[in-house]
Amino acid sequence: MGSENGSLLERYLRRKSVEAVARDAEESNLERTLTAFDLVILGLGAMIGAGIFVAVDQGAILAGPAVAISYIVAATACIFAALCYAELSAAVPASGMAYSYAFVSLGQLAAWLIAWNLVAEYLVGNVAVAAAWSDNLELALQTIGIDIPQALTAAPGTSGLDFTPIFDLPAFLIVSAITVLLAVGVRESATTNLVLTVFKIGVLFAFIALGALKADASLVTENFVPNGASGVMSAAAVVFFAFIGFDAVAAAAEETKNPQRNLPIGIIGSLVGAALIYVAVSLVFVALVPPGTTPSGAALAEALRAVGYGDFVTILVAFGGVAATTTVLLVFQLGIPRILMALSRDNMMPGWLGKIHPRFATPARLTLLTGAVTAIGAGLIPIADAITFTSLATLFVYLVISLAVLALRNVRPDLDRPFEVPVAPLVVLGAVVGLGALIVSLNVPTFLQWGAWMGVGLILYGLYGARRGLAADDEAETPPVDGAPPAPPQE
Ligand code: ALA
Repeated sequence: MGSENGSLLERYLRRKSVEAVARDAEESNLERTLTAFDLVILGLGAMIGAGIFVAVDQGAILAGPAVAISYIVAATACIFAALCYAELSAAVPASGMAYSYAFVSLGQLAAWLIAWNLVAEYLVGNVAVAAAWSDNLELALQTIGIDIPQALTAAPGTSGLDFTPIFDLPAFLIVSAITVLLAVGVRESATTNLVLTVFKIGVLFAFIALGALKADASLVTENFVPNGASGVMSAAAVVFFAFIGFDAVAAAAEETKNPQRNLPIGIIGSLVGAALIYVAVSLVFVALVPPGTTPSGAALAEALRAVGYGDFVTILVAFGGVAATTTVLLVFQLGIPRILMALSRDNMMPGWLGKIHPRFATPARLTLLTGAVTAIGAGLIPIADAITFTSLATLFVYLVISLAVLALRNVRPDLDRPFEVPVAPLVVLGAVVGLGALIVSLNVPTFLQWGAWMGVGLILYGLYGARRGLAADDEAETPPVDGAPPAPPQE
């Protein structure tokens, strides 16, 4: 019994070799077409969305005008984590991204838990983003006199409404449409992503300029930090959502030219760019309207309308919100199947699910399956719950990945590291403290939901992944036939 437990523990802790991960990346049928510029656009596409167009007001309710500080706090924690991501993504190019980094440094169980939380990050994250898409579209349509039946504009259980919602139909439809787009090919969706990302950044600059003309500085200065440091931290845990997605750049490692150079530029460049934009936008926002006075989810468009701008500006900014959330939806929906594909490659999930489509060169089955689950979730789960749950799952991923940098340096000091985290122990400590402070600022129901998610993940791991998954470096060289148990490790 004792030795059985010993061998189980060994299995959970066994690592995949960096070489095997790199070879998987080489062997995949995905084409290497993305440059550093493409990656920055991909990162901004993944990040700028609901977290600024909608959550800026939720943050302002908690922190007051000091919400700008909350964005800086969240950004700082993310920059520490991003440095860690950059080192790992340059040293271990792989489409499973954080999952692969955990597998080569911390072992199989940690890798599985990371994959499980990444699925939560992207899938439940997109549930929230789709709801924000729906809010902005609804405001734009309302402004031109088109009303969607109210019961079909929000998920059941959404708070703060003066009607009883049944299903968020626009959120369901946009996720469905994006799923089909992604199933037929990356290239088309990357172009779409570029156009929409440029548009949403243009709209945010327009918001800053138009808002600055009507800004009332007294709204900001009179009571800058109404709820003290705890308000700032609670808001930081909410607006952290705005930074989720920079890691999606790492997911594109297999499609990136010269990943050693381009991935770090893509990850860090997009994060710093997004942070600067958020601070400027949030400062202008709190100088326009008192927190909590924008009735729909479309906070930025409502704020300009409240200070006297007309229909054209309202529609423009609401469409900025639609474009912003569309790009996030595209990148996140692209990420989910790629994480699962890496799992299926390692036999931690049935292999037939992860097959690349011969004509479209995408993991079409997984794309359609995960898209259907996300679309139904978008119709049924309230946005506030989806945001906090996503934040916690993502904070867990970033925290473990930051620790993985030190673990990998320990087990593979020999590895070529084209990008190295400067003063790594301090940066990792910064990540742990920063991300940890955001984690403890979340509430108890969020921890209960996340605990349940982790429980399901552990059960699935015990039933499938732990039994069949690749357990040792040497097995990674010769993956077992699909469905057959893996060969015993040769020691
Ligand atoms: N960062 C993404 C957004 O704000 C999730 O929509």
